[in-house]
Amino acid sequence: MKKIGIVGSGLIGRSWAMLFAAGGYKVVMYDIDKNALERAYKIIEEQLYDTEKDGLLRGSLSAKEQSALISITSDLPEVVTDAVHVQECVFEDVELKKKVFRDISDYCNNDQTVLCSSTSCIMPSKLFTGLKRVSQCIIAHPCNPPSLCPLTEIVPHPETSAGVIERTRNLMAEIGQTPITLKKEIDGFALNRIQYSIINECWRLVLDGYLSVEDVDKAMTDGIGMRYAFIGPFETCHLNAEGTTQYMEKYAEGIQRVSSTFGAVPDFDDNSVAEINKQMCKMVPDTREGLEARRKWRDNCLLELAKVKAKVKTD
Ligand code: NAI
Repeated sequence: MKKIGIVGSGLIGRSWAMLFAAGGYKVVMYDIDKNALERAYKIIEEQLYDTEKDGLLRGSLSAKEQSALISITSDLPEVVTDAVHVQECVFEDVELKKKVFRDISDYCNNDQTVLCSSTSCIMPSKLFTGLKRVSQCIIAHPCNPPSLCPLTEIVPHPETSAGVIERTRNLMAEIGQTPITLKKEIDGFALNRIQYSIINECWRLVLDGYLSVEDVDKAMTDGIGMRYAFIGPFETCHLNAEGTTQYMEKYAEGIQRVSSTFGAVPDFDDNSVAEINKQMCKMVPDTREGLEARRKWRDNCLLELAKVKAKVKTD
């Protein structure tokens, strides 16, 4: 049975462990903090049985079979030895990750093992340059929560081998994720660059007094976002005219005119953060209970959306 190593058992490490076990892989998970590791295993077991009870368990194996595929260890070499893929999920700290990758690289006993980081925003050149197994190193950045938002950004280092890129993509697709591959590295990768461009303009619209926070969010959830769950910005253009060429004949001038008024990147100063937070808290209090309840609601919505998307795909 093929083995996957997970390094770091926090939110993302646990998510990967469940995704790989649902795909039928043997998963060995490690954490430097033994208590965190034991806690993580308990949380995983609970989540597997809960999702099974709700009829929402991924994959064809039962919760019992999936939890039996996952084991924990405090021995890093045990995680790496003979693994087909090692997924690093430690804190977002470049020096810490570099050290972890040096160790993983030293313990690795197979030229075919993929050494993969979950980093949200550290570029491959900052993380992997100089490692002796750099050709085996790559980033697979998931979208949170990974079990409900399948997008996974694959970001290779310039020296990552073509085979490693292909195997990472194939593995992600096999376990039900949606891989996209950056052809070269860029700060923020794809997802955060797109997301930040939206946040910046929404921030300006509120702070410059055009819209309330609530109305900006409605523009997304009941407008643009309705389409974006099914078609991206390019297909939106293509369908909103007789193809992209005609769309741009009609709208390019307007896009350029409006875009030239966007202004500088907001500086997110304390006053503006306080104003946005005040308006936001009227909708969702920033208390532990308030946020937890809303997250639960969000995850439920995403689950329902995933069902609709799966149905639409097979129709
Ligand atoms: P977390 O804080 O929940 O968990 C990090 C875990 O790493 C902790 O259990 C900690 O004990 C462990 N750790 C620290 N040093 C270690 C070491 N030397 N060896 C082994 N384990 C060690 O963090 P989270 O949220 O799971 O993030 C992990 C990575 O995933 C980060 O790089 C983050 O940027 C990325 N990511 C996070 C997302 C999120 O929404 N939380 C989304 C996508 C990626």
